[in-house]
Amino acid sequence: MMPQSESHPITSATACAGPSLALTKYWGKAKHGINKPATPSLGLTLTPLQSHATVSLAADGHEVTVNGVVQPLDRFAPFLKAAAKLFDRPVYFKALCTNSFPTSAGLASSSSGFAALALAMSQLAGRDLSHTNLSVLARIGSGSAARAVWGGFVEWPAGAAHARPLYDESYWPELRVIVCLVHPGCKAVSSRNAMTQARDTSPYYDAWVKESACMHHGALTALASQDLEQLGDIARHSYLRMFGTMLAMSPPLVYWVPASVQLIHLAQGLRKQGIGVWETMDAGPQVKLLCAAQDVDAILCRLNEALPELTPLVAQVGAGPCLIPSTTV
Ligand code: DP6
Repeated sequence: MMPQSESHPITSATACAGPSLALTKYWGKAKHGINKPATPSLGLTLTPLQSHATVSLAADGHEVTVNGVVQPLDRFAPFLKAAAKLFDRPVYFKALCTNSFPTSAGLASSSSGFAALALAMSQLAGRDLSHTNLSVLARIGSGSAARAVWGGFVEWPAGAAHARPLYDESYWPELRVIVCLVHPGCKAVSSRNAMTQARDTSPYYDAWVKESACMHHGALTALASQDLEQLGDIARHSYLRMFGTMLAMSPPLVYWVPASVQLIHLAQGLRKQGIGVWETMDAGPQVKLLCAAQDVDAILCRLNEALPELTPLVAQVGAGPCLIPSTTV
């Protein structure tokens, strides 16, 4: 870390970041450490979905707002404590976060939100943190944020304190992700609570952790050869097995709504017709469809027939977080 400049002129810092969509899932925490993963995961950073974070110092107490709503601080406390250590004196933060897409709805807004916050806070502190150190800091806010400090394709090994970049955003330009918001609003159970409950009560949890290593290895091989069919197939196994732990836990958890299931079947039908599309889902009802650019129009056409009220967003693999020029005195 670079020492903090004594005459550091910045009074606020703003950063933006795209969410990290997992193809193999982080689902379960290791026993020790904050948000250290029990499973390896492979994420890709999506664009044009974006989180923005503007941070400044506050006089007496932290304040975090997301999309204008003041947040309970317990969720943010470990992260704010770690970020405050970037300064050479006790500090409080005022953080204003916004998302260009639904928050806490299963679209990985916490990954992009904490990645943007980590970058903005390090800038405010006058530190030039390495991506690896940013990944450690962002992870303390939310595990998946450890991946979102890089663009492109990012791996987060099981038990690791930080993620690591595999390929940048130019690696696979034809890859697309069609984001289908099938249900607006926040999910009833946070991914944090759901994964803890899965670990503590699901009889399938140990099998999930064991299988994850194998699926992850296969995903890395498929990614290395840009084999979309193999990668899509593994992504399906990963999310379905993850949901298997939730269906079996106490009390059981079902995030899906009818349209989620409809899209699973729609993707299956399209594959049977020779159109390469593979769905994945996270802790929520939303569906993301992995496909090649050449198939997007055909898939959108089918989506429109099946679910005319849906407004799909075609995303692709994007760059990592960036700073936005900020106020100086
Ligand atoms: C299903 O990163 O939101 O999206 O570390 O408790 O904040 P915390 O959990 P979070 O969980 C993400 C779970 C997932 C899979 C993934 O992104 O790998």
